[in-house]
Amino acid sequence: MSKLDKATSGFYLHKITIIGVGLIGGSFALALKRAGVVATVSGWDANPENLSLANQLQIVDQHSASLADAVHGAELVMLAVPVGAMEAAAREVLPLMDRGAILTDSGSVKQCVLEAIEPLAASQGIRYVAGHPISGTERSGAGAAFAELYQGKRCILTPSAATDPDALATVQRAWQCAGSDVVLMDVQKHDRILAAISHLPHMIAYSLVNSVSSYDRYEENILDYSAGGFRDFTRIASSDPVMWRDIALTNQQSLIEMIDQFEGFLRELKNDIQQGDGKRLYEFFLRSKVTRDALIQPKVR
Ligand SMILES: NC(=O)c1ccc[n+]([C@@H]2O[C@H](COP(=O)([O-])OP(=O)(O)OC[C@H]3O[C@@H](n4cnc5c(N)ncnc54)[C@H](O)[C@@H]3O)[C@@H](O)[C@H]2O)c1
Repeated sequence: MSKLDKATSGFYLHKITIIGVGLIGGSFALALKRAGVVATVSGWDANPENLSLANQLQIVDQHSASLADAVHGAELVMLAVPVGAMEAAAREVLPLMDRGAILTDSGSVKQCVLEAIEPLAASQGIRYVAGHPISGTERSGAGAAFAELYQGKRCILTPSAATDPDALATVQRAWQCAGSDVVLMDVQKHDRILAAISHLPHMIAYSLVNSVSSYDRYEENILDYSAGGFRDFTRIASSDPVMWRDIALTNQQSLIEMIDQFEGFLRELKNDIQQGDGKRLYEFFLRSKVTRDALIQPKVR
C-alpha cells in the first residue's frame, strides 16, 4: 500500500472551506480533490476577482454569496491569508463555523498566529490546529495554485498542550492526503528554523536586487547584463511583498538573530577578500560547496 493510499483509506471530508483562495489554499483544495477525499470545496477571498477565478478554475465548487454561506457546514476551514490578516480573518470566521468543525491555517510564522487564534477558537468552542506547508513558489493567487504543490514536501504542524488530539489527527491526515510528510514541532523551534531556511534567504534576495539595481556608476541598467546566476539567486524576490512584510514583522526576533549571523559571515568574507587571503577564501567556498552539494544529492532511503 502506498503512503497516499494509506493516508486516504477511510478518510473523507464532506465540505472544506478555504479562506484566501491563493497559491497555498487553492493548491490544498486541488490536492484533496485529486486524492478524492473531499466532496465539496467552498471558498472566500477578500479579492472578489480572485474568488471568481478560483470558481472558474474549479478550485472551489460553490459560488458563495457571503462568508457565512462559504463556511456553513464545513468540517474543516483553512485560513490561507497573509500572516498579518490571520487574526482578523479568524475573528470573522469562528462565530460562523459549525460546532465540532476544525479551524486550521497555513501561515509561515506560527507563534504569533497560534497565540492569537487559539484563545479565540477556544472561546467559540472550535478546535484549532496550527500548520505550515513547507512548499511554495514565488507566484500568488488562485491562478498559481496546482494540485502537486505538496507532493513529497513537508508540512509542519505546531500543536500546543491545548490542541485537541482528534482535530490534530484530522489535519495531519488531510495534509498526508495532499501528498505531504507531516512533522509535529514546537512552535518556537518552527519559527527559528523557518527564519534560517526561508525568511533569511528572502531578505537576502530582496536586498540583493535592490542593492544591484541602485548601483549608479554607469548610465544604464546593469541588471540587463544579468544571466542565470543572478536570476536563479533572486527568483524568490518576485514573491508577494504583503506576505513578506507580514512574515518579517511577525518573526522579528528570530529573523534579526539570523540576519546578525549572516552579517557575521559576510564580514568575514569581506575581510578575507580585503586581506587577499586565498587560503581562507578557498576553505570558505569549499565548505559551502560541500554542504550545498550534499543538500541537492538524492537521499538514499
Ligand atoms: N507562498 C508561499 O510560498 C507560502 C508557503 C507556505 C505558507 N505560506 C503562507 O500561506 C498564506 C497564504 O499564502 P499564499 O502564497 O497562498 O498567498 P496568496 O497571495 O497567493 O493568497 C492569499 C489570498 O488571501 C486573500 N486575502 C487576503 N486577506 C484576506 C482576508 N482578510 N480574508 C480573505 N481573503 C484574504 C488574498 O486576496 C489572496 O487571494 C500566507 O500566510 C503565507 O505566509 C505561503
